[in-house]
Amino acid sequence: MVTSDSAVYYVCVPGEDAVASQLTNTNDVTAAVPSAATSADAVDAFSSTIAAIPSVLLSGGGRLPLVSLGTGSGQHADVATATSLWIRNGGRAIDTAHDYMDQRAVRKGIASSGVPASSLFLTTKISCGTYDKASRQIADNLRQLGVPTVNLTLIHFDYCDAGGSLESTWKALEDAKADGKTRAIGVSNFSPADLQKLKRQARVWPPAINQCSLSIGFHDDATIKYCDEQSIVYMGYSPLCGGVNGSSCTHGGVMSLPQVKAVAAAHSVSPAQVALKWIVQQGRPLATAVARADYIREDLDLWSWGNLTDMEMETLSAI
Ligand SMILES: NC(=O)c1ccc[n+]([C@@H]2O[C@H](COP(=O)([O-])OP(=O)(O)OC[C@H]3O[C@@H](n4cnc5c(N)ncnc54)[C@H](OP(=O)(O)O)[C@@H]3O)[C@@H](O)[C@H]2O)c1
Repeated sequence: MVTSDSAVYYVCVPGEDAVASQLTNTNDVTAAVPSAATSADAVDAFSSTIAAIPSVLLSGGGRLPLVSLGTGSGQHADVATATSLWIRNGGRAIDTAHDYMDQRAVRKGIASSGVPASSLFLTTKISCGTYDKASRQIADNLRQLGVPTVNLTLIHFDYCDAGGSLESTWKALEDAKADGKTRAIGVSNFSPADLQKLKRQARVWPPAINQCSLSIGFHDDATIKYCDEQSIVYMGYSPLCGGVNGSSCTHGGVMSLPQVKAVAAAHSVSPAQVALKWIVQQGRPLATAVARADYIREDLDLWSWGNLTDMEMETLSAI
């Protein structure tokens, strides 16, 4: 637990420190009800009607809810409102980044939700650069979000600024973790080769997360396999292949695929819910960018209806 001047910060699963040093895998998923610290008044009635959102245990500590709000899609002018709506509807995880330049809006959205930041799972990211630049971005992130620590900080991309390196950036993250500025550390858009390079120098291993583009029709199976073997949780972004930043995902969106529509009709849910369920049913967390209230509710409501059948999972995985 970390304390600030005015408040006790960070509430997660009691006893998690005891298991924090164990390596984890994507099968280690349990359902967790939003923290009791949540102000009931601030939460829409909807949040009490959806099934609990499961979470995955991270190497290094903490449980990441399987569905995060991604704020960095570029198409959401009003990140503060989207953040507030997400939380008021029961969302407890938010994925932002130094590069998104929206962390003050995230802070505003959290404040207006009425739910304390200490009840949320905050993920942020830094660029690959020198040790000093990485340390500055870590400090900026905390200042912009208005918190003394975040739950998870990632190296955003595997390419670095001049003079910087993956190793120097990872060292800054390792030190930030030791100083209590971030609970867990991880990477994003890393290939197996990048990870192997990092492993040779790392004091903290494995990274808690490798966040990569993942959707029906776009899955990097070799990297997924490597991460599973190394107990690195493989987290999906652009799960609907929908955002302007989902540049690696080029097939134009999963929601219009006929196979996805057929499965959605069979379960009486939306194609988006099927696309998200295909990821979380594998035990993998995801970040989806969403602003519309009805979409937010769909994206959070993935567990009050049945699982996809094995055959449906196989059909969707084969696309
Ligand atoms: N680490 C990285 O390098 C990286 C790169 C790209 C993205 N990301 C992260 O991943 C997040 C998501 O990526 P993305 O922007 O490509 O998003 P995405 O989740 O694949 O697609 C977002 C789009 O899907 C729509 N949508 C969401 N739920 C829907 C529903 N239930 N029905 C119909 N449409 C729905 C949204 O509509 P509305 O806007 O109308 O609600 C939005 O236009 C980003 O915000 C960011 O946090 C990370």
